[in-house]
This record gives sequence, C-alpha cells and structure tokens, in this order.
Amino acid sequence: MLVLGFESSCDETGVALYDQERGLLAHALHSQVAMHRDYGGVVPELASRDHVRRLVPLLRKALSDSGRSLGEVGAIAYTQGPGLAGALLVGSAFAEALALGLGVPTVPVHHLEGHLLSPLLSSRPPVFPFVALLVSGGHTQLMRVTGVGKYELLGETLDDAAGEAFDKTAKLLGLGYPGGPALAVLAEQGVPGAVKLPRPMLNSGDLMFSFSGLKTAVLTRVRERELTEQERADVARGFQDAIVEVLVKKSLTALKTTGLQQLVVAGGVGANAELRRQLDLRAARRGLTVYYPELEFCTDNGAMIALAGAMRLATGSPAKPAGGFAVRPRWPLSEIG
Ligand code: KG4
Ligand code: ZN
Repeated sequence: MLVLGFESSCDETGVALYDQERGLLAHALHSQVAMHRDYGGVVPELASRDHVRRLVPLLRKALSDSGRSLGEVGAIAYTQGPGLAGALLVGSAFAEALALGLGVPTVPVHHLEGHLLSPLLSSRPPVFPFVALLVSGGHTQLMRVTGVGKYELLGETLDDAAGEAFDKTAKLLGLGYPGGPALAVLAEQGVPGAVKLPRPMLNSGDLMFSFSGLKTAVLTRVRERELTEQERADVARGFQDAIVEVLVKKSLTALKTTGLQQLVVAGGVGANAELRRQLDLRAARRGLTVYYPELEFCTDNGAMIALAGAMRLATGSPAKPAGGFAVRPRWPLSEIG
C-alpha cells in the first residue's frame, strides 16, 4: 500500500510517499529556519501560516518525484502531536480533508514515534528490540523499543531537553537560531579541557538527565567578563563535551541494564558529530552497534511520519475513517495506543 505522510508540528513542513513493499519513494521538505531567524526562535503564528503555503507545492513535488498519483494513495499519515497547536491543526486538517476527498483512511502519528522509527529508513536498519536515545529540541528520553508501538520509558530529562540546552547555550554565546548546529561548529575551534563544566547527574545511578544547570554554568562564565573569540569557542567545546559525556554514559548504561546490543539515536541532536564520534568509539569497544537516521532524517521530516504510518498499518493498527480529528499538542509517548 502507498502511504502519504505529512509533518507540520513545528517549523518544518514535510511530505513523503512510502510504499509498504518498496520503501520510501519520495519526500519533500521546507524548513522555516530563515523565516524565524530574525526573531531568535519559532513564532507559532508565522509557522502555521507558512505550513498553509507550503503543503500543496510540497505534495505536488513529492508526487512528481515518486511518479505516483493521488489516486494510488491507500492511506494518509500525519503528525497529530506533540507540537505547536496551530501548526498541527494545519497539517491535520489538510491531511484529513484530502483523505476524505480521496476516500482513504488516516493514521494519526505521534511525532516522537516518527523520530524513533526513522533509523529504519536507512540502508542498514536496526532490528527490534533496541534501546533508543531520543534527543530533540523538546525531548531527551531513553526507551526500550521491542516493536512498533511498544515503547518502554527507561529515563528522561527532569528539566531542559538536550536540544533546548544546546539552543539556550548558543543564545548565551551570541549565536543565531537554530543554536545547536551553530554551537557545534564553534565547539570545533575550542580546546578540549580548557573549560570544564559540570556533568549533571552523571553518577546518579539511574537513567535520568538534567541539563538546566549546565546552561546556568555557561551563563556564569559569560557574565564574568567579555569573552575572547577563543574563549567562546572553549566554552562551546566544554558545554558540548559535558552534554555528550552524559548522553553517552547513560545510553551505555541503558544497554547494559536491558542486556540489549543495539542503540538507536534519533532526533535533531542525533546530527551532532561529536555525539556520534563518542558513541561509536565507546560502543565499538563493547561490541555494541549504534544506528543513526540519515542526516536528512535526524531533524523533522515527512518521511518518518509516512514510515511510522505504514508500519502501524503493517503491524495491524487500525486506520481511522477520514473526517473528524483532534490535535494533541501535549501527548506523552507512553499514551499512544
Ligand atoms: O528533532 P528536531 O528537529 O525537532 C524537535 O522535534 O524538537 O530537533 C531540533 C533540535 C534543536 O534543538 C537543534 O538545535 C538540535 O536539534 N540540533 C543539534 C544539531 N542539529 C540540530 N544540536 C546539536 N548539534 C547539532 N549538530
Ligand atoms: Zn522532531
């Protein structure tokens, strides 16, 4: 069956076509980063209005790239939540209306399930069961994944998410939006060990995280005095090394306690090169394997939503008749049916 997928939970509009037999056929993406940059962050109302403008052109592009027509679509998957209410409403209303018009059912998808399953889009996919480290702008969670829809929370952040900590620290260092990738670039110029920052909860003995103190530690340094260019890079390096060390250690602990051999890293922070370097190094020593989504599927995209919808249908989750819908801006992954 051909599944059409839509993502519109935040500042990316994504459309994709996934064939249950052949895999991903095409995906089209528009990022609103340039539009929100002047404001230093995502402006929800602008995000919603931009999704309205982008959906039809992106759908046309995905269809033309795949060589398929709307008449061949068997079901429509879309992000129901969590995310910005207005942005979710645009994608959901569009997907439900289109499904109604085409006479096909819909599959409302949890955004984080999309991220979790996104490494399955790669040419060398993991197999269930695995541990997933989900590190995005809004979430930091370790999960035991035993199958589609079978996610057990092992640990999560008590305050800021990893991506949020990257973004806020980047702002303190005077870097633009989005901060994570910019901070990672600056950190490459920093001297390892020049600035030593705390490793929050590194030895807490559980799989919980806390990143807000790290941001405060950076704030203290920045407020002390005007930093030179090199000192800013050293702080960025110190921050990145601290966050990476905590993420790596807790991920390895999760593998040890569950007895699993495979780690899947998903979400925007999974694009971080230093995180990948350290995880690969430390996992290889223990004979463990780490899987990442392709870089283009680390951050938000339609492909992961089409995939999640297709996998849900393949594993027997019922599709819903098109028409009535509700978005779920706050939706814990533990509550998915
Ligand atoms: O998964 P995602 O696109 O959106 C959410 O669902 O939240 O993740 C976005 C987050 C942002 O906080 C961004 O700064 C961070 O991922 N990010 C990075 C990198 N690329 C994106 N953080 C650190 N290093 C990167 N290379
Ligand atoms: Zn996301």
